[in-house]
Amino acid sequence: MTKTIAILPGDGIGPEIVTEAVKVLETLRDKFSLAIHLESGLVGGAAIDATGSPLPPATLDLAKRADAVLLGAVGGPKWESLDISIRPEKGLLGLRSELKLFANLRPVVLFPELASASTLKPEVVAGLDILIVRELTGDIYFGQPRGIRTLETGEKQGINTLVYTESEIERIARVAFASAEQRQKKLCSVDKANVLEATELWRQVVTRVSRDYPTVQLTHMYVDNAAMQLVRAPKQFDVIVTTNMFGDILSDLASQLTGSIGMLPSASLDANNKGMYEPIHGSAPDIAGQNLANPLATILSVAMLLRYSLNRVDLATAIERAVRQVLQAGLRTRDILGDGQYTVVTTREMGDAVVAQLRAQ
Ligand code: NAD
Ligand code: IPM
Ligand code: MN
Repeated sequence: MTKTIAILPGDGIGPEIVTEAVKVLETLRDKFSLAIHLESGLVGGAAIDATGSPLPPATLDLAKRADAVLLGAVGGPKWESLDISIRPEKGLLGLRSELKLFANLRPVVLFPELASASTLKPEVVAGLDILIVRELTGDIYFGQPRGIRTLETGEKQGINTLVYTESEIERIARVAFASAEQRQKKLCSVDKANVLEATELWRQVVTRVSRDYPTVQLTHMYVDNAAMQLVRAPKQFDVIVTTNMFGDILSDLASQLTGSIGMLPSASLDANNKGMYEPIHGSAPDIAGQNLANPLATILSVAMLLRYSLNRVDLATAIERAVRQVLQAGLRTRDILGDGQYTVVTTREMGDAVVAQLRAQ
């Protein structure tokens, strides 16, 4: 049966990188007979400009009816003065909560060819393969009350609320333990249980869930230490499970271990593996419209889409192999230059090179 994939390019470099990822999907459709139907929608600033809303009903409807969603990035300076409740980022957050995409998988894998592109010493990152499991629909991102209010003194007060319920913690913990069972069987839960009650509960629930996964070795770490350890000795980690905001910050930090944030894909899954797939980076306004962005994070997100939502591990592997071959051939966008002689390529040239490798397989 033909699968519908919603294509939501968004803002900034979003349309540029999604164009390359769509070329990859079209290659799979035309050359590998993958039965897919692509349908585009507006989200973020692009949707605000066209409709006044960052998540128009037509886009939400498309995302709900699709078998999977591919998203570029949202946001940019043009919309920064809008009220936070109607900014582009709300479109993305709305998709995550409406589709109940509570499990965000962010693999942090170093391609061996990029060891010298990392800002860390090659021996510190060689062989790096971490999976960050980020809770995605709770925490201070969605907690109530929130807002800016004026106190009796006339002074303004900004409020956000960090909340987690046991069931929210339990379901993300189960995703993380199940992932660890399939990997090196090590799970590090990252929290701030020494200060924040919501994450004290987090630690209790994760510990309770661990009894159902006796083969997985569970450790706990405070988030400040985890940030330091990720830079000091990142290979100590196998799977990391953490809260929405800590996961956001730690995954940007970890991306640099692999050479560039332009390399890291993600999958945001619901309880039935319906998913939205996007690079972990943003709309990169500083390089938007210049054909400079690295499209590989988005192309690798397509690989995750095939693996998790379309059950086509063979095609996911084919994409990952094609990316590896392109790197082996010495092609580099500017963000992943390391020591050595490389061919510096544009966004489009990188996408074309991946497609050419796929076609040759
Ligand atoms: P960003 O991730 O957009 O950019 C940070 C830096 O990384 C920039 O120097 C940028 O040029 C670089 N970079 C990012 N992606 C790259 C790529 N593919 N290739 C090469 N270089 C790349 O983060 P920011 O600047 O803090 O945010 C910009 C906008 O994006 C904001 O509006 C923010 O809210 C939004 N944002 C959106 C998402 C998303 O849609 N998922 C994620 C993060 C930030
Ligand atoms: C991400 C982004 C988003 C987040 C923003 C744009 C809402 O930084 O996907 O990592 O904070 O989750
Ligand atoms: Mn982020």
